[in-house]
Amino acid sequence: MSAAPPEVDSSPVEFDPFSQDFFDGAYATYRRLRDESPAYYNAKWDFWALTRYDDVAPATKDHETFSSAKGATLDMVKAHDDAIPVPKVIISMDPPQHQKMRRLVSNVFTPRAIAALEEMVHEKVYERVDALDPAGFDVVADFSALFPNEVITAMLGVPKEDRDQIRHWLDLLLERRPGEMAVPKTGYEASVNTGLYYYDLVQQRRAAPKDDMISRLIETEIERDGVVDKLTDVDITGFATMLGGAGAETVTKLVGNAMVAFADFPDQWRKLREDRSKIPAAIEELLRYEAPSQYQVRTATRDVTYYGTSIPEGAAVLLVTAAATRDERMFDAPDQLDIDRERKMGFNLAFGYGIHSCLGAALARMESRIALNALLDIIPEYEVDRDGLRRVAMSNVCGYSNVPVRRTA
Ligand code: HEM
Repeated sequence: MSAAPPEVDSSPVEFDPFSQDFFDGAYATYRRLRDESPAYYNAKWDFWALTRYDDVAPATKDHETFSSAKGATLDMVKAHDDAIPVPKVIISMDPPQHQKMRRLVSNVFTPRAIAALEEMVHEKVYERVDALDPAGFDVVADFSALFPNEVITAMLGVPKEDRDQIRHWLDLLLERRPGEMAVPKTGYEASVNTGLYYYDLVQQRRAAPKDDMISRLIETEIERDGVVDKLTDVDITGFATMLGGAGAETVTKLVGNAMVAFADFPDQWRKLREDRSKIPAAIEELLRYEAPSQYQVRTATRDVTYYGTSIPEGAAVLLVTAAATRDERMFDAPDQLDIDRERKMGFNLAFGYGIHSCLGAALARMESRIALNALLDIIPEYEVDRDGLRRVAMSNVCGYSNVPVRRTA
């Protein structure tokens, strides 16, 4: 259980984002990093890591010093070669390119557009909930791995019969082997297949538009100083592919992590059961407690000094938001899940911060709210079969592939 007291260890702290320690939730390691090595260097993979809230929050906002342009994962940053032009997605852009792209895609994420999805999200969540047997089911495999993908692929306009294939490719694309940074061959193939699939869908929607996000992205244009900007087919393909990961895996992990956290802190689940108006606050606290996306990768654009240590220009830097939101310098009893916790300014880094802050945050909050409400109905009291818990081994993302539960009352 992640609230256990830290073990005393006199060896130098090591943080390896491709190790079992990371996949298992590296909160004890994060505590040591914050205390002993707040500007940490890992020689094996050649990256730096910031873990204290007061360092991570401003760095996440400072896109001039911490660039996204070489990529959002460590393998991308390491493989990056300026001489090889590759199509970029929004998450790996710096201004002014980012600004232009963000304005274009924001058109499909307006508050009104997201609010209009509530009925569809409700339907997708309850399609899955109605098929669950409260006597025993797997919160992730039978529920939270399924509905977020349904939501995002339905929004994009993927026909129903292809949605499971998209989810399967996405799992392969994000999967990592312990001890290896590189995307496995199966992951690379899955990424090519997803790209080809969406490129073809863009062609179909150009020929015959429908009422879906891809058709709207094709139509979107912005005029500035007499110049009209539009998205290319490659832009839309890249964006759709990215949304699969950004918009599905994260919600999957949030809901799975939530049910383990509530089993560890049953009084918090009881509070929620007794007062469901606390659900939105509970979601913010769950994001603080165990962020689905644990760190954001950046490249330093200049030498920058922390605690007398210079991080050199060009270095890969992990801004470990999941460590920052467990920082005892910022939060009282940070290892406790407390849905009534006082929320401070900038409290939540789990959706990023600054220019890249999550475009889908409102949708993610809505999906999680509807899902938690449904779970409160079907398993008002439950226990987790801890022998059946399985963690995923993925890049950046932390959480479970299996959370077996059964209703106890
Ligand atoms: C619990 C769920 C989610 C979490 C924890 C999450 C987390 C994040 C984080 C940390 C970033 C910033 C990345 C960076 O700074 O490099 C981000 C960006 C982004 N997210 Fe989410 N996300 C979630 C759900 C979603 C959903 C549902 C969508 C869309 C349907 C989405 C779309 C995006 C996009 C497009 C960006 C890139 C924004 C940009 O680069 O300007 N996310 N998300």
